[in-house]
Amino acid sequence: MWGLSRPSLSLIVAVVAQNAALTAFAFAPPSASTSRVLRQQSLSVQSVALSDSLSSVEQHALEVFEKFATESSDISSSEDLYEILCSLDVEATQDEADVLFRYLDEDADGALNFDDFLPWYKEAADAATAVAESFQSLLVGRRTIEQFDRTPIGNDVLERAVQCAIAAPNRSMSEPWRFIRVGPETISKFAELNLSIRKNMETDDGSSSVYDWTTVPGWCVVTTKISPNDADAEQEDFKSVSCAIQNFMLSMWSEGVGTKWTSGPVQKTQEFADLCGVDTSIERVVGCIWFGYATGGGNYADPRRRRKEVKDVLSHLP
Ligand SMILES: Cc1cc2nc3c(=O)[nH]c(=O)nc-3n(C[C@H](O)[C@H](O)[C@H](O)COP(=O)(O)O)c2cc1C
Repeated sequence: MWGLSRPSLSLIVAVVAQNAALTAFAFAPPSASTSRVLRQQSLSVQSVALSDSLSSVEQHALEVFEKFATESSDISSSEDLYEILCSLDVEATQDEADVLFRYLDEDADGALNFDDFLPWYKEAADAATAVAESFQSLLVGRRTIEQFDRTPIGNDVLERAVQCAIAAPNRSMSEPWRFIRVGPETISKFAELNLSIRKNMETDDGSSSVYDWTTVPGWCVVTTKISPNDADAEQEDFKSVSCAIQNFMLSMWSEGVGTKWTSGPVQKTQEFADLCGVDTSIERVVGCIWFGYATGGGNYADPRRRRKEVKDVLSHLP
């Protein structure tokens, strides 16, 4: 599974010369030395059992290759190579597979063994891994933004974020979310309501009462479905909406737009729901996502370092 980093053979096959021989790769073809090292390891269907010495990518390539290999451990047609590429999530056409087959079949005997295939595949996989690493950096680098510049954020950015949000996993395809972009007029009403509610509260955590809500350039209220007679379903829907919100925030972050998920007592009131047009017999507010350009740039926000590391939270059972 490649996700975003799915390699495309049309990228890999850059130029096909008139005689249909492959003359250049966007991903460099395996260097002689890489190829030699891998060959020295004698990786072949016959000689290599799945082992810890193979990376997951290599093990998977071997598993798929074996499905198509004949008894002599060879792939004897570019149609089979095409099926292998599809199974490994490499985007390719049959024509591209034909070209690749001829390129990899160095001795032109019309057969490919795993040694022929693996060095090329590893190069493609390594290139895809670089994309995965940058995607993971994006995720780890996201910060909650506290101070926003005033520049409004266009609907196109919002719509892409919602597109990412609705791609989130969700129980029984219930798609329990709704996103409501809120404009300045409504935000002023939120702020007034917030002040009056906080005045009536005995304690005040002070977290948002000091903040001028009207200065936040983008507001999106997110709701989840409620199921008064099915607490489990309601909780599953809530989890799904949480996934959607994370996708939403990451989409914005990927475009240089910061976000802050805010909750708070005002969001639980009927008045707030009424201001948003939320029918509380079928849905409830999960949060407001503030969004905008971070004052001073995204890097001003100190990473809120996690107290726990991977080793503290990940365990393995046999
Ligand atoms: C469900 C949820 C509700 C949150 N509500 C608030 C909030 O009301 N006020 C606030 O300042 N931050 C709120 N946050 C943001 C967290 O404070 C923030 O994610 C946390 O400090 C970690 O910082 P980071 O997002 O930069 O990693 C909320 C986050 C989540 C997931």
